[in-house]
Amino acid sequence: MTSRRNFLAIAGSSAVILAAGAGGWAMTRTPQTALAPWSHAGQYPDIMRRALSWAILAPNPHNRQPWLVDLISEREAVLYVDTERLLPHTDPYNRQIAIGLGAFLEVFRQAAAQDGLSASFNYFPEGESRDQLDTRPIARIRLQGEAEPDPLFAAVLQRHTNREPYKTDRHVRVGLLDDLTDWGQNDVAINAAAEPSRVNTLRTIAGEAMNIEMMTDRTYMESVDLMRIGKAEINANPDGIAIPGPLPELMRSLGPMSHATLSNLDGAAQQQSADFVEHQAATAMAWMWFTSAGNSRTDQINTGRDYVRGHLRATQLGLAWQPMSQALQEYPEMADHYARIHTLLAPEGETVQMLVRLGYAAEAKPSPRWPLETRLIDT
Ligand SMILES: Cc1cc2nc3c(=O)[nH]c(=O)nc-3n(C[C@H](O)[C@H](O)[C@H](O)COP(=O)(O)O)c2cc1C
Repeated sequence: MTSRRNFLAIAGSSAVILAAGAGGWAMTRTPQTALAPWSHAGQYPDIMRRALSWAILAPNPHNRQPWLVDLISEREAVLYVDTERLLPHTDPYNRQIAIGLGAFLEVFRQAAAQDGLSASFNYFPEGESRDQLDTRPIARIRLQGEAEPDPLFAAVLQRHTNREPYKTDRHVRVGLLDDLTDWGQNDVAINAAAEPSRVNTLRTIAGEAMNIEMMTDRTYMESVDLMRIGKAEINANPDGIAIPGPLPELMRSLGPMSHATLSNLDGAAQQQSADFVEHQAATAMAWMWFTSAGNSRTDQINTGRDYVRGHLRATQLGLAWQPMSQALQEYPEMADHYARIHTLLAPEGETVQMLVRLGYAAEAKPSPRWPLETRLIDT
């Protein structure tokens, strides 16, 4: 990849951001404060906070970390969505946000099981919201009874979304895909394909969808507004689309990578970003997708739970993993690609909840997290 592409190429969660390149993580410019929650996980004396400190490491769209927890007692808590942390343009019905909350609950459950405790969840105890998530609880959480450790838990600290280009000379064995699709537990259909013609069709749809998201001004800007460029910005706001490293910092101060340049909707940065993210789809060596028969809030939570289970297993198998969610998004400019992907992957009228590219790549780095304390509701 040329250095110019390194600077400007964008790749992030449901949309955009930048491959700063491995050199981008030069030690002195690493945003240590923003990464601290990865080393604080499990370091809390009480069991509820201990499990929550793992749960905040869960994958979630655009790294918004939309979880808020009300601690009721040592064994009880209530999970809410932070309605200030939604993605109205790329996720107009908060479907992806709900999937992220499901991933949070699954990592919580595994962490509690690691302590020998069973976590039970009462979803939407005051009712499921329809078009928008609201301030009603997402789940009431209880720790009670005993549980066996989950073998997937061992991969929580190594699980990272990998946005590198994948090696096109290394194929994903069908046996590995069979293993991966076997780990679901929550009534979500999980399928995968490595067969070249299907891989190519999905590369095309996912790549075009990426391009639409990047070239649609309001969806592109949703990502630009969440970019944190360089150590200081990332440490100050450890969420969104983090672009660490000395080179992005330099480019930010010199201009080409400033928020102003990236916000120029007729600028080269928007087109270059689109080109780069299309390239991600082009190096998918296999695809995996999660579908649910319905599309209720509980279906979305269940998807998130199985989604993170899949990612943890992929991590154990040494596979690189990146969701490419653009074709699944529900806004008018995406309608054609949404229809095409559903005709292909959900012919019985199911909802495709997640689409993931798989392959082999250089190791991915952890993404920032807000400290647990900031995600607890002060009472
Ligand atoms: C519902 C959902 C949709 C996502 N869509 C994308 C996507 O389209 N592209 C992408 O690169 N990452 C996507 N992600 C991954 C998140 O950006 C990622 O989980 C987050 O930035 C935290 O990073 P981590 O997974 O490495 O901990 C998605 C994650 C979830 C849960």
